[in-house]
Amino acid sequence: MNNPDGTDVLAAKEPDTENAIQRVLVLEMVRVTEAAAVAAAQLIGRGDEKAADAAAVEAMRRAFDNLYMDGTVVIGEGERDEAPMLFIGEKVGMGKGPKIDIALDPLEGTTITAKAGPNALAVLAAAEEGCLLNAPDVYMDKLAVGPGYPEGVIDLAKSPTENVESVAKAKGVKPSEIIICVLDRPRHADLIAELRSIGCGVVLIGDGDVAGVIAVTDEDTTIDMYMGQGGAPEGVLAAAALRCVGGQFNGRLVFRNDDEKARAKKWGITDLNRIYKLEDLASGDCIFAATGVTEGSLLDGVKKRRMHTGETVMTTESVVMRASSGTVRWIKGEHRIG
Ligand code: FBP
Repeated sequence: MNNPDGTDVLAAKEPDTENAIQRVLVLEMVRVTEAAAVAAAQLIGRGDEKAADAAAVEAMRRAFDNLYMDGTVVIGEGERDEAPMLFIGEKVGMGKGPKIDIALDPLEGTTITAKAGPNALAVLAAAEEGCLLNAPDVYMDKLAVGPGYPEGVIDLAKSPTENVESVAKAKGVKPSEIIICVLDRPRHADLIAELRSIGCGVVLIGDGDVAGVIAVTDEDTTIDMYMGQGGAPEGVLAAAALRCVGGQFNGRLVFRNDDEKARAKKWGITDLNRIYKLEDLASGDCIFAATGVTEGSLLDGVKKRRMHTGETVMTTESVVMRASSGTVRWIKGEHRIG
């Protein structure tokens, strides 16, 4: 059998070093999220958000050291003066190899972890230099829908009702049959009331909107859309995942004061009202990796087992996706911790 250019599909190809490195890196990223998840999991249900976050940050930071890349954190734990590790601009990896920008959240769902709730993740996105939006730590209005809809089916410039009607029409159902995931926050009271007034099902989540947005891509969750304000960094992470598996996303930064506006300008954002689409948030060949910390709709949480041999084994479930190939890998890990 031949390729379109006439060459044999099975013939050996010239090795492409850059691509080979990127392919190895895809799998290596899981080691990094696994390390953070295992560390955070030791603190599930202990009521200490800061300790769980610190454990995840430190473990993720260490795991990066072994990666053959010249990485730079573009979305991280904060600015250099407010975060001791994984701050924005910090170099990660061995300092050799491909130049990669990293967006990360070692523990997405600190409160969830402290309270042993669902859907806490260790998560990161990686892309070629300059391909991830350097989102400031402000809120973002988010609107997302899964794959298979015509381009432009959602539009953040329109009202929630108009968006529901548009998605319902494309799906061939009544607006009242549309299910929408929303963060349970007082600031969403009007949004929730509007959605319920047209009969929609509203799935309220306590925290963790990266998993909430990704849920729209999985038919098993029955969630059609994601709406509402959450963290902008989390918006970039979720967008990277949707770039890999399909779906549409609109995001608009929300500024509560002049200080937040100034922070955005510092990161080169000039149009403060811009509606960002997937490619504006994560372009090029991006990678998304996540490991479940607590049980969730996307991934199983970390489980600790004491074996009859006396060893303690932590089991993890992770997912890693790559935009250029659309490959999604689900990875189970067993980690012996002594
Ligand atoms: P943390 O892990 O930083 O606690 O974030 C959890 C989270 O629920 C995010 O998923 C979401 O984007 C953000 O907080 C929402 O912020 P707020 O709690 O201020 O509404």
